[in-house]
Amino acid sequence: MRVALTGATGFLGLRLARELLEQHGSLTVLAHAGSGGALGRVTRFMELSGAPAESVAELPHRLRIVETDLAQPRLGLSDEAFGRLADELDVIWHSAGNIDLDDDLANLRRVNVDGTRHVLELAAAGARRPVVRHISTAFVGGAQRDGVSYEDELADAHGFENAYERSKYEAEVLVRAWARATGRPVLVMRPSILVTDLPPDPALPAHPLQFVARIVQASLRGGALTGADVPDALRPLVRLKGHPHGHLNLMPVESAATVMVRLASRTPSGTAGTYHVVHDHDVAVTTLAALVERLAPVRLRIVEEKPDDPSPLEAVADLYPGFTPYLGHRRRFDDTRVRTLLGPVPSGVRVDLDYLAAGLSPGRTVSTGGAP
Ligand SMILES: NC(=O)c1ccc[n+]([C@@H]2O[C@H](COP(=O)([O-])OP(=O)(O)OC[C@H]3O[C@@H](n4cnc5c(N)ncnc54)[C@H](OP(=O)(O)O)[C@@H]3O)[C@@H](O)[C@H]2O)c1
Repeated sequence: MRVALTGATGFLGLRLARELLEQHGSLTVLAHAGSGGALGRVTRFMELSGAPAESVAELPHRLRIVETDLAQPRLGLSDEAFGRLADELDVIWHSAGNIDLDDDLANLRRVNVDGTRHVLELAAAGARRPVVRHISTAFVGGAQRDGVSYEDELADAHGFENAYERSKYEAEVLVRAWARATGRPVLVMRPSILVTDLPPDPALPAHPLQFVARIVQASLRGGALTGADVPDALRPLVRLKGHPHGHLNLMPVESAATVMVRLASRTPSGTAGTYHVVHDHDVAVTTLAALVERLAPVRLRIVEEKPDDPSPLEAVADLYPGFTPYLGHRRRFDDTRVRTLLGPVPSGVRVDLDYLAAGLSPGRTVSTGGAP
């Protein structure tokens, strides 16, 4: 069976690549043309995440790298190369994307919407009718801040917190329409916010909560005292708008990849379905505040209204406006379909302050977490 993966060098894609290599002899990596070094980046990840040396040594023989640009028609390939690639595939995992919550809608659409269209065209062109595994996001539910989001829902009734959500929603609409029109199966997987306790490394993709480290940097540049034991009274106060009882679903990325590959092996091949790939416990937004306090000598308070007299530090602390609305979320993602198919899927990993701090602090020893 010939399996292809887009986004294999990404935060999630690297873990998917590792899982898929456990199931298949080879993997076609549809790498980002111009980024370079896909083989080296996958190799470095395998080393850093503790893969056995013999698996790492085999990578050049098991990975076939095809340089592609999702934003271009035919993924930037010639007609002939596109047709040849399409004809040899049985499965296409589509994980590549632009996850910058603050980017312009036009840029996000180019990769997330047009890119998905081009991947579907690749699947449509394939003589072996490859099945599509599409990575969406639980946040296609948009700006619904309370209540429950269900797996079969896809609507723009609540609007969106940022252009990223809108672009992923539009991509999912496209995928569903394609599955209906062609009668071809598509598996849509919607992870929540992905996290890890693998420490950051220049060779690895950025952690999705990397903005926390940016707040830390800003506070240090802003003249806050350094050192782990700065007394509370000397820590400047940073107020961030949110809900005092807000909570967010943070899913260990390694567990998410495992669940996704299990879902792919369990879903009947003829059907299309959407699944929430989420943790069984949410994390309080106050834990995120505590995370910032653990890493930076500041006091962070979640307040219900944006301060109208922001201190200079508060003015720079809101460094990721696309994320800030999530501090006010109390929505839960229902994952009944996943549980029905796989049974209860406890992640096996407790996402707490220590876990989150490990993934954002360079140079700590790691456990990459267990599979669910
Ligand atoms: N991260 C999260 O918390 C999260 C949560 C829910 C859903 N998701 C979804 O999960 C998927 C993977 O996200 P991620 O966290 O792995 O993102 P990421 O770390 O930013 O990786 C993005 C991947 O897409 C590739 N890519 C970007 N633009 C491309 C283009 N024009 N042509 C070809 N490849 C391109 C990148 O290649 P280069 O590195 O070479 O540029 C990289 O491999 C996305 O669809 C995202 O929407 C992510």
